[in-house]
Amino acid sequence: MSDLIEVAAKKIAAATRPISFSGAGLSAESGISTFRDNSEDALWANFDPTRLASQEGFKADPAAVIDWYSARRRKLAQAVPNAAHKALGQQAGWTHITQNVDHLLEQGGADAKHVLHLHGSLLKDQCNADCGHTEVIDLNDPPGLRDCPDCGNRMRPSVVWFGESLRQHVLNRATAEAAEADLLLVIGTSAVVYPAAGLIPLASEAGADIIFVNTEASEMADGKSIEIIGKAGDVLPLLFK
Ligand code: OAD
Repeated sequence: MSDLIEVAAKKIAAATRPISFSGAGLSAESGISTFRDNSEDALWANFDPTRLASQEGFKADPAAVIDWYSARRRKLAQAVPNAAHKALGQQAGWTHITQNVDHLLEQGGADAKHVLHLHGSLLKDQCNADCGHTEVIDLNDPPGLRDCPDCGNRMRPSVVWFGESLRQHVLNRATAEAAEADLLLVIGTSAVVYPAAGLIPLASEAGADIIFVNTEASEMADGKSIEIIGKAGDVLPLLFK
């Protein structure tokens, strides 16, 4: 075990309020594309987010948006939790704050009550007018473009698009967790999308130890934090040994 991993593992073992904060890199080894790293299939290098993940894009071409999400859903249906999801899922007493819209943490063993999905979920659709109607989706057989049976507006994936606000109750819980944590394990995120990324300085300023696990260096890492460069699926099992 490298010295850095050993130091991080000791901090994790000693923490009394540990939380994780994850991004697309956590699910990369499960075959789910990231958004903006240097991998060939990074989503925002190949697709335009303003066309596929915004109200403007949905208004301009709703079928194209729904088709793109259907393709992502079919891919997710084939994915299984990797070693990093399983390592996190086995930890009692942790809260997991994730930007990921998959449920691989829960499938890896994490208690759904302690997983906060900041950016929503691909497993659900909701009314685009937010009338309150939601539907659980079969990832293997996602529905096409259709109207809300309650109010007649369009149905859409229950994920947060650019320009939209996060669900306030989820953000409030995540903010409270970050403010009270004594350790924050940050995994596989570029940490450039706010308000999610703001949880890192929040936890740090409130006194938490910050440990980064990422395949690339993070701009958020500073002299106080521990930064481990490596794949989540390789590193996380070592951190919990
Ligand atoms: P990004 O794609 O921006 O960043 C993924 C990070 O994971 C990069 O820093 C990679 O270097 C790193 N990475 C890749 N493979 C890894 C591996 N096997 N182990 C560890 N790290 C790895 O994804 P997010 O930070 O999650 O928003 O992006 C944030 C938000 O931007 C997403 O939630 C999404 C997107 O637009 C919405 O959909 C609202």
